[in-house]
Parts: sequence; structure tokens; C-alpha cells
Amino acid sequence: MTKPVCLITGCSSGFGVLFTKRLSKTHHVYATMRDLGKKKDLETQLNNEELSSISILQCDVTEISSIERVIKEIENEEGRLDVLINNAGFGLGGFFEDLEEQEIRDQFETNFFGLQSVTRHSLPLLRQTKGAKIINLSSIAGIVGTPGLSAYNASKWAVEGFSESLYFELYPFDVKVILVEPGPYNTKVLKENAKLSKKMNDKKSPYYENSQKLISKLDKLVKHLLEDPDIVARLVGKIVKQKNPKFRHVIGKTAVIRYLLKRFTSFRFYSWLIRLVYMK
Ligand SMILES: NC(=O)c1ccc[n+]([C@@H]2O[C@H](COP(=O)([O-])OP(=O)(O)OC[C@H]3O[C@@H](n4cnc5c(N)ncnc54)[C@H](OP(=O)(O)O)[C@@H]3O)[C@@H](O)[C@H]2O)c1
Repeated sequence: MTKPVCLITGCSSGFGVLFTKRLSKTHHVYATMRDLGKKKDLETQLNNEELSSISILQCDVTEISSIERVIKEIENEEGRLDVLINNAGFGLGGFFEDLEEQEIRDQFETNFFGLQSVTRHSLPLLRQTKGAKIINLSSIAGIVGTPGLSAYNASKWAVEGFSESLYFELYPFDVKVILVEPGPYNTKVLKENAKLSKKMNDKKSPYYENSQKLISKLDKLVKHLLEDPDIVARLVGKIVKQKNPKFRHVIGKTAVIRYLLKRFTSFRFYSWLIRLVYMK
């Protein structure tokens, strides 16, 4: 019997690499990345057996033609798709008034419209597989707002609403939609891949002082709070094996704390705490 097939976006670093490594043991993985010049990271973390179970393809989630190429290739080579992991994404930092409209649109192009385009093109294949799964990498930022992250928050919030609606739409086809909502993990997302608004370091901005505080808080966060991203890969490995996975998976110490605080305390108390942590 042929192996089940999995498509993952954003496999040049971070979670994408770890998901590929884990799932290559049970699936043929189409590990995609927008720049094939970065495939060394992935190749060096996989052993020969794992490498023999993967195909590395170019895919920029903001370019429809590259998504179409990948789906055509999977269709021709495998004729099926069992799991789609919408993982590609990045985070834009910057206070709303400092953000240019184009910067916010670019954030949505990747994190939201990109995820939707890959999903749309994968669905004809996914619908043919009983029990197929779509796993969307949202974030705790899709549930709780943080000052200076409104564009990222909004893009992940959009992923949350879309996924919840899609869950119901695909239920009759036995295609399961699942949200993974991690807190901060040690990947490139908060380091070299983090994007800051052009005006974040502009001394004339009324938000300059708060921006600098936030940058220094993020530096501390990067040093002290980041968890091992393989924990998220283990969770995703488990979800893929489950027949009836839960819809929502909040994961990570700070994510769980923030989720519970927002859910079970008054907004007055919760917002005081967030202001204390991020703005003081
Ligand atoms: N790590 C965390 O703390 C955390 C927490 C919550 C949610 N997440 C989410 O987890 C997902 C993976 O992030 P990560 O933590 O693994 O960070 P990462 O190491 O920065 O990886 C992000 C991946 O997305 C790719 N990407 C960005 N824009 C793309 C595009 N237009 N088309 C295709 N690929 C694109 C990047 O490719 P390039 O190398 O070409 O830039 C990279 O492969 C993201 O959706 C992120 O929002 C992460």
C-alpha cells in the first residue's frame, strides 16, 4: 500500500523542518519552501531514510502559480492528499498608527490569504480522502491581543474565524480542520525572520518610547521564555495519527496561562496585567 501523503508549507526553518522530520516516518511529505536556496537546513536535519520519504518543492504561498504547480505534482505523482499543514507565516511588529497599510496587507497576504489559497487548491484532493486533515498554524496571538502586534494578531484572528467556519463546511466530507495555537517557541519567527514596521525606530513617532520598551521586552522573551519547538512537532505528529482530533490546541506554558487568564478573569484585571507586562 502506498504511504499517505502530507503537504507542508514554510519548511525552510522552524516548525516546518520539525514537522517534516516527524511525519516523514509515516507519510510521503511534500515539504515546500519559497526559496529552494534554503533547503540545506531541512536536508541536514533529516537522515537518509527520512530524506527518501520527502520531496522538496518551491512554493510561495502568496504566488498562486507556485501553489498550482505543487498541487499538480502531488496529483500526478500520488493521486491523493491526506494531510495539509498550513505552516508558512511571519510576524510583523509595530504599533498600529506606525504601520503602513502595505505592511499590514503583506502580513495578511502570507498569514491569511496565502493559507486560504493553499487550502483552496488542496481541497479537491483532500475531499477524495476519507478522514483527511487540514492543520492550520494559528498562534496564541489568534486568541489574545498584544500591544505592538496588532497586524499579526489580526491575521491569526482571521485564521481562527476562517478555520472554525471551514470546520463545519468540511464536516460532511469527513475532512477535519484543526487549529494549533502555540505560544513562543525557539524558531526564527521572533529572531531573524521577525519583521518590524519601518517607523518602529522613528524617534518622531508618538509611539517611539513604547516601541523601544516592546523591543527590549521581546529581547528578554527570546532569551528566557522560548520553548523547544519539537514539543509542537510532537503534538502535530499526535494529531495526524488521531481519528477524531480536538479542534483547538493551545500549546506552551505562556500560551496556556494567557488563554486561561483571558477566559476566566475579568477583562479589567486581564488588561491591567498585560499593560504591566508589556508597557511598563
Ligand atoms: N515559533 C513561535 O513562537 C510561533 C508561535 C505561534 C505561531 N507560530 C506560527 O508557526 C508558523 C511557523 O513559524 P516558525 O515559528 O517555524 O518560524 P520560522 O522559523 O520563521 O519559519 C517560518 C517559515 O514560513 C516561511 N514563509 C514566510 N513567508 C512565506 C511565504 N510567503 N511563502 C512560503 N513560505 C513562507 C519562511 O520561509 P523563509 O525562510 O523563506 O522566510 C519559513 O520557512 C508561522 O505561521 C508562525 O506564525 C510560531
